[in-house]
Amino acid sequence: MANTVLVGAQWGDEGKGKIIDVLTSEVDVVARYQGGNNAGHTVIIGDAKYVLHLLPSGMLHEGKQCVIGNGVVIDPTALAAEINELSEKGIDIGDRLLISDRAHIVFPYHGALDASREAACRKENKIGTTKRGIGPAYGDKMSRVGLRLGDLRDPAFPQLLTERMNEVNRVLEAMGAEPLDTAKLITGICEAARVIEPFIGDSITFLGEAVRDGKSILFEGAQGTMLDIDFGSYPFVTSSNSTAGGACTGTGVPPNKIDRVLGVIKTYTTRVGEGPFPTELTDEIGELLAREGNEFGATTGRPRRCGWFDAVVARYSAMINGFDVWAMTKLDVLDKLATIKICVAYECDGERYETVPGNVRILARCTPVYEEMPGWQSPTGDITVYEDLPQAARDYVERLVELTGVKLGILSVGAPRKSTLRVGM
Ligand code: IMP
Repeated sequence: MANTVLVGAQWGDEGKGKIIDVLTSEVDVVARYQGGNNAGHTVIIGDAKYVLHLLPSGMLHEGKQCVIGNGVVIDPTALAAEINELSEKGIDIGDRLLISDRAHIVFPYHGALDASREAACRKENKIGTTKRGIGPAYGDKMSRVGLRLGDLRDPAFPQLLTERMNEVNRVLEAMGAEPLDTAKLITGICEAARVIEPFIGDSITFLGEAVRDGKSILFEGAQGTMLDIDFGSYPFVTSSNSTAGGACTGTGVPPNKIDRVLGVIKTYTTRVGEGPFPTELTDEIGELLAREGNEFGATTGRPRRCGWFDAVVARYSAMINGFDVWAMTKLDVLDKLATIKICVAYECDGERYETVPGNVRILARCTPVYEEMPGWQSPTGDITVYEDLPQAARDYVERLVELTGVKLGILSVGAPRKSTLRVGM
């Protein structure tokens, strides 16, 4: 398979884990490029369910090489727990995992700062973060005060962390939070470091050589376009570039080595956390989508907000990421609906918006302009060939393709691997 970047086109939770799982058999290397353990990929294989937060889903495929790139932020304790859990379930990690020595470390103080900031915010300003310390960790990286995984091997590491903690504890106290015990923190990190240390290395050279040798790479994006720090509904976003460009900065593979960008998009919309969501449904249809789609966060268990498909978001996302092809997911969730709405534009203060406004306060006041289509009211979950779908279901999917200008490659009608219809790829 061509070197492919896989990106969520909405607010995350598009079902990327499953698509990655299906495509992994066709590549040599899977590389994660941004985010941290705020992400959660659920993969169902046979009767077993795996929820991965930091490890690429490719770990579940025997023989596949997995990379956690420099753009990811890593909580060593969480990663060690994930590695131990997979090993206990009989998944052979061996030398299949390589974690960038340049990836920044998420320390417990980042989580404490994340929680304190959220607690100090007024209701309307809360981001609704996962409280995993992601924002403060990327903040340290950009402020050039972060520590990286490679630093764990440096004899100066305890000293560097102690110096950092002197400042952090002053900040925590000023915010009314308890200071952290530095010695305890160092002990905890060193314990986790023993588990992850064998996997830390120079992922940049590894990937450079993989490209040179003609190996195919799947770049695994976490979160989604509308949560991107630059292009999302700022400030209600995560703190990394979850869009396609992040694959280059987050791994060191240059843009001219990327062959294809695949957008993963749900056939309706969900969002977890705070922030504007123009097509949100707070009625019984929203409840039906949540129920049928099992819309609960894989990381925090929080219920996801649900709404109609938003073609404004999808078009904007296609423009930024340059999607060549869609993987559309969870069509079966719409099976019971008599009528389905699609948002084709927004209106705000008498103005029509064909694209996502940059000002989040305008986005919050936008109302959707809908078109309606008939539902198909029959189960699609067991269908394995696109042409066997009810005509109304195909009409709906084809309208989404038409509105977004991106062709269909994969259509998912259920969680198992077999419920994945290959259409144009
Ligand atoms: P943070 O990434 O924990 O700082 O959270 C920032 C925002 O991104 C919040 O609205 C989270 O709910 C959202 N978020 C972070 N990771 C994910 C994800 O994997 N799926 C969906 N939403 C996410």
